[in-house]
Amino acid sequence: MGEGAARFDFPRGGVAAPNARPVGFFDSGRGGVCILDAFRRLCPDESTVYLADSAHCPYGNRESAEVAALAEECTRRLLGEYGCKMIVVACNTATAAAIDILRAKFAGVPFIGLEPAVKPAAMDSRSLVVGVLATAGTFSGRLYNETKAKFARDVTVIATVADEFVELVEQGRTDGADVERVVRRRLEPLLAAGADRIVLGCTHFPHLKGVMERICGDRAKIIDPSDAVARQARRVLEENGLAAPSGHDAADIRISTAAQLRAVVVTGGVRRIGKAIADHLAARGWRVLRTSHRADAGADIVADLSAEDGADRLFDAAVSLLGRAPDAIVNNAAVYLADEEATRRINLASPLRLMERLAAASDCGAAVNIIDAAVLDDREETRPRLRAYAAAKRELLAATLDAATRHAGRLRANAVAPGSVLPPEGFHEKAMPSATGRRPTPGDVAAAVERFLAGDASSQVEAVV
Ligand code: DGL
Repeated sequence: MGEGAARFDFPRGGVAAPNARPVGFFDSGRGGVCILDAFRRLCPDESTVYLADSAHCPYGNRESAEVAALAEECTRRLLGEYGCKMIVVACNTATAAAIDILRAKFAGVPFIGLEPAVKPAAMDSRSLVVGVLATAGTFSGRLYNETKAKFARDVTVIATVADEFVELVEQGRTDGADVERVVRRRLEPLLAAGADRIVLGCTHFPHLKGVMERICGDRAKIIDPSDAVARQARRVLEENGLAAPSGHDAADIRISTAAQLRAVVVTGGVRRIGKAIADHLAARGWRVLRTSHRADAGADIVADLSAEDGADRLFDAAVSLLGRAPDAIVNNAAVYLADEEATRRINLASPLRLMERLAAASDCGAAVNIIDAAVLDDREETRPRLRAYAAAKRELLAATLDAATRHAGRLRANAVAPGSVLPPEGFHEKAMPSATGRRPTPGDVAAAVERFLAGDASSQVEAVV
């Protein structure tokens, strides 16, 4: 037992039976959720507490002593505040820096640690070349180097630090063309060197497994340790007589050391005004999920809002990316298609459905709907091509005000009505005459949206002309 070792006393007066207490998990951020998910699938009766140390993410290139201190703090919280019966260090970097220290300091508490699965990869590899993706901290740790020396002596192991993957996952970006480009940059050299096994030695990386598998095809197998770690955790619980009684009402608690960023969905957020709004909000500290109807560069969610279930799919995708409902929605996507039915769905039905989902999921949500200044003056739209578009926008305006009243106290709903805005690309200036001489910019529209999101107004319309 190391210096300062003491048997850790569980807080008194908490959960009575030790085996009904939760299992604690921590990681530098959301990476370890893949381990948590695997564990919850395997042990549905177990309560869990997941602590994301997002205030200190990333751990990967911090000094080992610093990571050990952070890991100790996380452990102390999980044991002290939640009375956890076991701790899963759902982070390779923290395991490398701290597992021995934690076991010594919190004697009596079972710990599960993670290290890159070099052994099974080396044993399975036919090409005798194995790629390992992890952080610098993991690669410099004793565990990794001992395992490699012991089990991979006859195998070429290519260690690759991929810190940018951690950043992607923290931003909730796990698919799409941009993500694929970043991931490919790390994988292709491993594949070119003949690696037929790629070990995910950082718990953030299984979140990118879909993209990786697409890139590797049948050239290499991705080794994701999540299920094996979950099985090991179950085994240790059973060995210690700590498994939860079956039928136990299992809780799933998630906490973070960082104040949570407010998250907003911007439909049609990868081009034109939608992009300007999304960029503006991202620059002001919002966590932005951009949606598009196709797999555009920069789209976090691909959703077809002309489909009947398009809005529901979009909302579900946002919840699964965020791990919770978004705080706000900007209904920006709009079209004027020959297909009036599709136009109506995209411009009206889907925004309405998204507002309803947000109102149902949140206690203080905000929706901003982008209308069109033209519908504010009561002129009938005479151009046939724009008739369905304008009618839908007009109804959306009425529906915004209606939603604000119906969901008062739970959802603020406002509308921004741009005039002839010259978008950054895609339109010809001459086609959009300006009545006032001054043409509002996409930035003006974005600022109006932000004012509504940040303020406390509801049931208001702001014309940006
Ligand atoms: N998820 C962590 C790991 O497994 C570390 C990521 C980081 O914070 O750098 O190594």
